[in-house]
Amino acid sequence: MSTVSAGKVCGVASKPWALRLASRFAERSLSRAYSIEDLRRLAQKRLPRAVFDFFDGGSEDEATLRDNRAAFGRVRLAPKVLVDVSAVDTRTTILGTPSDLPIAIAPTGAVGFGWPGGDVAIARAAAAFGIPYALSTTGTTSIERIAREAPGRLWFQAYILRKRDFTAGLIERARAAGYEALIITVDLPVGGKRERDFRNDFAVPFRFTPRNVLDFASRPGWALSMIHGGMPAMENLADFTPETTDAAAIASSVGRNYDPSFDWDSLRAIRDAWPRKLVVKGIVRADDAERAAGIGCDALVVSNHGGRQLDGGVATLDALPPIVAAVGSRMEVLLDGGVRRGADVVKAVSMGAKAVLIGRATLYGVCAAGEPGAHRALEILSDELKRTIQLCGARNIRDVSPDLLVAPRL
Ligand SMILES: Cc1cc2nc3c(=O)[nH]c(=O)nc-3n(C[C@H](O)[C@H](O)[C@H](O)COP(=O)(O)O)c2cc1C
Repeated sequence: MSTVSAGKVCGVASKPWALRLASRFAERSLSRAYSIEDLRRLAQKRLPRAVFDFFDGGSEDEATLRDNRAAFGRVRLAPKVLVDVSAVDTRTTILGTPSDLPIAIAPTGAVGFGWPGGDVAIARAAAAFGIPYALSTTGTTSIERIAREAPGRLWFQAYILRKRDFTAGLIERARAAGYEALIITVDLPVGGKRERDFRNDFAVPFRFTPRNVLDFASRPGWALSMIHGGMPAMENLADFTPETTDAAAIASSVGRNYDPSFDWDSLRAIRDAWPRKLVVKGIVRADDAERAAGIGCDALVVSNHGGRQLDGGVATLDALPPIVAAVGSRMEVLLDGGVRRGADVVKAVSMGAKAVLIGRATLYGVCAAGEPGAHRALEILSDELKRTIQLCGARNIRDVSPDLLVAPRL
């Protein structure tokens, strides 16, 4: 791998000198990042605490956040030996279209607070690895700009806002810009209680306090990049609150405006209106999965929002087997939450997931070093995935089956 070549791909040379310096410094540290956890540590070193905690944290006691990871640790693989694994093929299909890895990028909001242009950086890295990228409603790059600047497989994730017409307008923009799939996130009727954000004075509406000003000042590299890159804005929501253009005010207003009355009938109406692939994200129960299949969703994501919503909710890997058993033959079952290793991907696919989505893995990468960092995260996962498949005595994704699990759950 070459982080240097990744840096060139990003057009580092066109940035202001201070940002270029910060980018070079950050990129150099990438050569010592061998795992997603290494990227997490680099992100932690570069970001103010409040920003790092926003990306890293979960809700309340963070029990679900931890359990998403722990669930992967509870599953063990039983490798086969003496198989010719000199060639390994990680290609699969996701939503019926080829993907080079059984991995897609999960939608994440506010990425620009971690790295200016962070959404585009992750989307370009995804395109380079031949995998789908999902843009969030609360992303810091517009639907159209992502389509222009990161031409790969694009999905758009919609939050349902009380102003339903506004949500419909976003969905129409995604259709017009050629996004191949729409994700409706259903585990956020109201916002989760993320106490790290409160303690760090990161709660919206954002306000400068002695605590967070000191915090920001402690990370001059990050502060410089914000000064040169400009304060990130939730570009898709620019018209949401016409009376203000202030990003924090918009964020706060959006946060208060998730529609808690959104229900199965409303999802069915979206299904009827959206002509392309529809993915419902945030299901952890087999009966809900049955309903999603019943109204014609093409795929679902077994997800608990990376432990950021209901704390005490089930780990996604534990929730997967009954959902696969209920609907796996009728729709694609994807999974996210806690994927940090190639072996995690193998475990999820062995248990019946068609693919996994990753949120924090590429976020840590982009927060550590921009596009080369996102690239490095995917390189690490891709390398680990191939290696794990080979070490399991498998040659391709079709060989990754319940047969590889110590105690098959299906
Ligand atoms: C900082 C952050 C922002 C997120 N924003 C969104 C979002 O805007 N929409 C959404 O559907 N999910 C959002 N998620 C949840 C992710 O899509 C995904 O479910 C989760 O990150 C998966 O867990 P992982 O981070 O352990 O991979 C966010 C997650 C994080 C960490």
